[in-house]
Amino acid sequence: MKILVTGGAGFIGSNFVHYWIKNHSGDEIVVLDKLTYAGNLENLSAVADKIKFIKGDICDESAVSEAMQGVETVAHFAAESHVDRSILDPEAFIKTNVLGTHMLLKKALEQKVKRFHHVSTDEVFGQIDLNSSERWKESSPYNPRSPYSASKAASDHLVRAYYQTYGLPVTISNCANNIGPYMFPEKLVPLAITNVLQGKKIPVYKPGNQVREWLYVEDHCSGIEAVLTKGRVGETYFIGPDNPEYSNLEVIKKLLKIMGKSDDFIEFVGDRPGHDQKYALDHGKISKELGWQPKYQLDEALENCVKWYTENRAWWEKVKSGEYLKYYEQQYAKR
Ligand code: NAD
Ligand code: TYD
Repeated sequence: MKILVTGGAGFIGSNFVHYWIKNHSGDEIVVLDKLTYAGNLENLSAVADKIKFIKGDICDESAVSEAMQGVETVAHFAAESHVDRSILDPEAFIKTNVLGTHMLLKKALEQKVKRFHHVSTDEVFGQIDLNSSERWKESSPYNPRSPYSASKAASDHLVRAYYQTYGLPVTISNCANNIGPYMFPEKLVPLAITNVLQGKKIPVYKPGNQVREWLYVEDHCSGIEAVLTKGRVGETYFIGPDNPEYSNLEVIKKLLKIMGKSDDFIEFVGDRPGHDQKYALDHGKISKELGWQPKYQLDEALENCVKWYTENRAWWEKVKSGEYLKYYEQQYAKR
């Protein structure tokens, strides 16, 4: 089978490429990636001879046509993915996440691909009250609250529209927050680990009681594999962990404990505008229907992350210099 992985040089996309090569060695993999600030060819260097890499924008019709040649399955990861950046500059999010997804759908239909899998997020459902024990289901109403989640919600709707209107064989997965190797160190967990390794404090948005579900990225990859190989066309599946509920502050304290550091590394900073309080998914459908279960608990996932970032200092030191510094200064200057 020939599979096109968009955004394959980013965090989850590159982990998926590694996972797919390991578990589906006979398949041909094409990666289409614009190499934005978040895309890094080093994430794919170990498998460079096993894939075809095309540098291109998913909004660019000719790049997408080239990448889609002979493809049977599309796994669509490419996106602008960071909420804080979407607050500073929403436009790139609308272009890539909405218009780019539409370009891929249009070309997938023309090429008669057998499966278009769209990788989405729990954030499209909005937020859950901190005191509530509600968990979203695939049928829950959409209520995005940030430019990032609004653009992902729009892309989910377009994917469904292509199924309903044109019969494109689609599937969608909405996943919880991921952590793992190759994660860009502007998101909470890799930012915290790399800051501590640099002797810097961890900025925690006040009051730190917000709740996310944290999934080890390998579990996300196996969830997408389950949907691609066993999922029903036209369906949406949630992918999430089985951990107890932890606040951001509790997660940071766990990390500091693993790293043998005191809580003095915590620095409370001003909150994110419109900060979603809590996300929680009920992943019963994928478990019951496709037999998928997450393998990793949070402690093991965090330990693996600390180990990876400690052993791969050259990778993130390069990432954290240059362009990233400008963002970091803008993001945390006035908080
Ligand atoms: P990332 O920001 O690390 O990587 C995104 C990749 O897409 C980069 O390689 C980038 O160069 C590429 N890209 C961006 N714009 C592009 C364009 N116009 N054309 C081609 N390539 C482009 O993101 P990630 O964290 O790996 O997320 C991947 C997908 O998973 C996204 O769709 C995201 O919404 C979704 N998701 C992420 C999480 C998470 O915790 N990170 C959770 C749930 C869902
Ligand atoms: P993030 O990793 O940006 O993912 P998302 O906003 O998509 O869930 O943030 C995870 C949580 O951590 C979120 O509640 C915001 C919070 N956070 C901080 O407290 N400090 C930070 O510096 C960052 C980046 C996030």
